Amino acid sequence: MRISRVYCLALALVFLVADLQHADAGFDILDPNGKISIKWDVVEWTADGYRAIVTMYNQQLYRHIQAPGWIMGWTWSKKEVIWNIIGSETREQGDCSKWKSALPHCCKKTPEVIDLLPGVPYNQQTANCCRGGVLSSFMQDPATSVASYQIVVGNTGNTNTTIQLPKNFTLMTPGPGYTCSKAAVVPKTRFLSADGRRTTEAFMTWNITCSYTQQLANKAPTCCVSFSAFYNETIVPCPSCACDCPKNSNATLPIPLANGVDTNNQRCINRHDPHLPTTLNATKNNPLSTPQDMLFCTNDMCPIKIHWHIKLNYQEYWRVKITITNRDISRNYTLWNLVAQHPNFQNFTESFSFSYRPLNGYGPTATVNNSAIFWGVKFYNDMLMQAGPNGNVQSEILFRKDSSFTLNNGWGFPSHLLFNGDECAMPTADQYPTLPSSSSGLRVAMTTLVSMLVFSVAFLL
Ligand SMILES: *[C@@H]1O[C@H](CO)[C@@H](O)[C@H](O)[C@H]1NC(C)=O
Ligand SMILES: *[C@@H]1O[C@H](CO)[C@@H](O)[C@H](O)[C@H]1NC(C)=O
Ligand SMILES: *[C@@H]1O[C@H](CO)[C@@H](O)[C@H](O)[C@H]1NC(C)=O
Ligand SMILES: *[C@@H]1O[C@H](CO)[C@@H](O)[C@H](O)[C@H]1NC(C)=O
Ligand SMILES: *[C@@H]1O[C@H](CO)[C@@H](O)[C@H](O)[C@H]1NC(C)=O
Ligand SMILES: *[C@@H]1O[C@H](CO)[C@@H](O)[C@H](O)[C@H]1NC(C)=O
Ligand SMILES: *[C@@H]1O[C@H](CO)[C@@H](O)[C@H](O)[C@H]1NC(C)=O
Ligand SMILES: *[C@@H]1O[C@H](CO)[C@@H](O)[C@H](O)[C@H]1NC(C)=O
Ligand SMILES: *[C@@H]1O[C@H](CO)[C@@H](O)[C@H](O)[C@H]1NC(C)=O
Repeated sequence: MRISRVYCLALALVFLVADLQHADAGFDILDPNGKISIKWDVVEWTADGYRAIVTMYNQQLYRHIQAPGWIMGWTWSKKEVIWNIIGSETREQGDCSKWKSALPHCCKKTPEVIDLLPGVPYNQQTANCCRGGVLSSFMQDPATSVASYQIVVGNTGNTNTTIQLPKNFTLMTPGPGYTCSKAAVVPKTRFLSADGRRTTEAFMTWNITCSYTQQLANKAPTCCVSFSAFYNETIVPCPSCACDCPKNSNATLPIPLANGVDTNNQRCINRHDPHLPTTLNATKNNPLSTPQDMLFCTNDMCPIKIHWHIKLNYQEYWRVKITITNRDISRNYTLWNLVAQHPNFQNFTESFSFSYRPLNGYGPTATVNNSAIFWGVKFYNDMLMQAGPNGNVQSEILFRKDSSFTLNNGWGFPSHLLFNGDECAMPTADQYPTLPSSSSGLRVAMTTLVSMLVFSVAFLL
């Protein structure tokens, strides 16, 4: 009895320390070097300015930019204009009335550049362009974690001493979340020719780094976690009002949306309403406006719920089933990802329906080796569909037991889960499903035995 109490205390301390670490360094303890860097390479002087290749690298391990995509903005230092852009466009041309013979692409002091949609004509494309502003996380697919376009800037100097660097860079996705550094001149980029036999170099290069803060992007969490285990029939639900509070769970349809604006601030509809719309008009009008989310009403009001079920306990392994449910009827999540932190990820064995990579030990300052990233299998479950019958993805995962394995004290539950890079609200530790008390210890042993048999049979088949 005393031992188990000491153990409890120790476990509580471990959790406390882990939480302090998180509070201290932010959630980015899992990705200390995560940032988006933007590089401008001036590759040609023109009559009144320069041509540059602008490249954006997503160096974040698990945070991506999903549709409707990124918006890159800045403020010109002088009276620059953009004569031409290939591989992207500006949202507004602005006032070009002082130009006569040739018309610039954009005359705004604060241009906002967006990506082109896939399928534009070949002569309007550049390498790494035209993905509708979607940028993969570095872990999911390094090849599509880069975006690039070409820009011809005029009405400015055309030597490296007269150029004024653009100021006040912003990166919207399309909402806020990122803060960007000042542009800084860095060593010139060297480009290698396709056959690798010759290098050319930029005339001048500058860099901007943008980093993400969840608090800047959302006031409230966007996902929550529920727990269950084979040894206890209780399902521990998401904390209530984890993301918001239900406003009117008896709403009647049709939903009073005018031009995509939820005038009654209703925000949720009843899942069992017979008149559920199959699509909403909300997101159709302006593809760059943040969609007005419309959820199925729940006690937590989170668009995303993650359920972690401890499913089976074998002799050497244990198995968890993860289900991610979308309760947002106005949004599909493409290229979704899930980051999970649990001590046993050091001895992780298999994920059956999700792609998987450990986050362990990336970068020189990585301080944790107990987390992993999961994402969908291409063309199978890489899109988490809008709420409804298909609005979930699931996989079972298998751990090889390490020496600290126990079913006690909620050890089998993760300490942190992040969906698309944002921390999810967890049930409090005192609510974890508990093991039946001593008399039924035999039952657990039996379950274990049965699980082992089932597992052996499954392996034989
Ligand atoms: C500008 O060009 C000169 C001559 O090529 C070079 O010496 C100088 O370092 C350059 N300055 C910058 C800021 O690139
Ligand atoms: C920088 O950009 C932001 C957003 O576009 C704007 O609110 C802010 O006033 C700008 N600051 C300067 C100094 O231009
Ligand atoms: C400039 O961008 C490159 C490309 O990603 C990056 O590796 C480098 O660290 C950046 N340099 C600075 C000084 O930010
Ligand atoms: C929803 O309707 C039920 C029964 O009609 C009622 O008991 C409940 O209070 C209503 N809830 C709200 C939030 O109006
Ligand atoms: C959606 O748009 C159609 C036609 O554009 C319109 O008839 C319908 O009322 C709209 N539905 C909602 C819920 O706004
Ligand atoms: C989600 O994707 C499906 C299949 O591509 C599509 O039919 C549906 O309209 C999409 N829903 C939204 C809200 O974009
Ligand atoms: C994982 O991290 C812990 C604590 O930092 C350390 O004791 C352990 O040796 C590491 N394990 C591996 C496999 O790197
Ligand atoms: C866990 O993994 C580490 C590194 O792969 C290995 O050295 C260790 O023996 C494993 N522990 C168990 C209990 O399998
Ligand atoms: C299941 O876990 C809950 C805590 O979430 C606990 O109150 C309950 O007693 C457990 N049930 C059994 C049968 O042990």
